[in-house]
Amino acid sequence: MQHLKSLSELTTDDIHEILSLASELKAKHYAGERPALMPGRVLSMVFEKPSLRTRNSFEAAITHLGGAGIFLSSAEAGLHGREALCDVARVLSSYCDLIVLRTFSQKLVEDFADFSNCPVINGLTDDRHPCQALTDLFTVQEVFGGLDKHLVYIGDGNNIAASLAIAASMTGMPLTVCTPAGFELGADFVADLKSQFPSAQISQDNDPAAAVKTADIVYTDVWASMGQEDEAEKRRKIFAPFQVNAALMSQAPADCKFMHDLPAHRGEEVTDDVIDGPASLAFQQAENRMHLAKGLIVWLHKNR
Ligand code: CP
Ligand code: NVA
Repeated sequence: MQHLKSLSELTTDDIHEILSLASELKAKHYAGERPALMPGRVLSMVFEKPSLRTRNSFEAAITHLGGAGIFLSSAEAGLHGREALCDVARVLSSYCDLIVLRTFSQKLVEDFADFSNCPVINGLTDDRHPCQALTDLFTVQEVFGGLDKHLVYIGDGNNIAASLAIAASMTGMPLTVCTPAGFELGADFVADLKSQFPSAQISQDNDPAAAVKTADIVYTDVWASMGQEDEAEKRRKIFAPFQVNAALMSQAPADCKFMHDLPAHRGEEVTDDVIDGPASLAFQQAENRMHLAKGLIVWLHKNR
């Protein structure tokens, strides 16, 4: 069974097929067409954490495709102790055609998928956010016409940075991850990517002004992710020099774009003038979550 627990279970060709389906379906959407490619199909979502984009983009996507979405909180679904996880997975997957899970634990998604009779999509865990990274590739390709653009990620070496690193390694997109010392991506994780994808161009840096000098895109994300709220105050001080503001963007080439997966903590990792400015792709990214979700749903259903 083909799942999307992490991007690393796809091939580079799979990624390009998903991007191309998303692009086709976006063009159709703009032409007023909503082809019913998933008639009567059901996509269930079980979320342990809040979501605006992931939940609504998947629900809109399956509805546009002629199917229906069902949303359950993790408490309602009984992910934690009401019954065994393997039983939840077997039962839920007998009612639907695709399942999107948003959990703290990556292992939970992996364990669930082992017992699911339909494809399971990781809708974000503490470790990975593959749907966001696919959407980011889609947006870069749409804006620049290709993926050979230097993306400089500034901030925390978190789930977004990790999934971008896998996406970049698999597609040859040059990526610099620039974090405060101690918040880098794991050295083993990066070494594994480089050995698996010898042409990967991934580097890590701790100096934002130097890192953005050759950036085609500057990307940032929140400093404290969902589940790290207790660390927010401490992180605000550590990450302050990594704020993406007009001064930092002025160190980048004049045509450099800005990306953010959202939600943004305005005034923390990014200032209003940057996220609302002409270089910002943040809201195009957010819209593209839905087009990408359609491409992914159709591709997974075909390849399950
Ligand atoms: N970018 C993203 O996944 O947003 P949500 O947390 O709102 O789903
Ligand atoms: N790193 C963030 C991403 C939110 C989409 C988090 O995990 O909260």
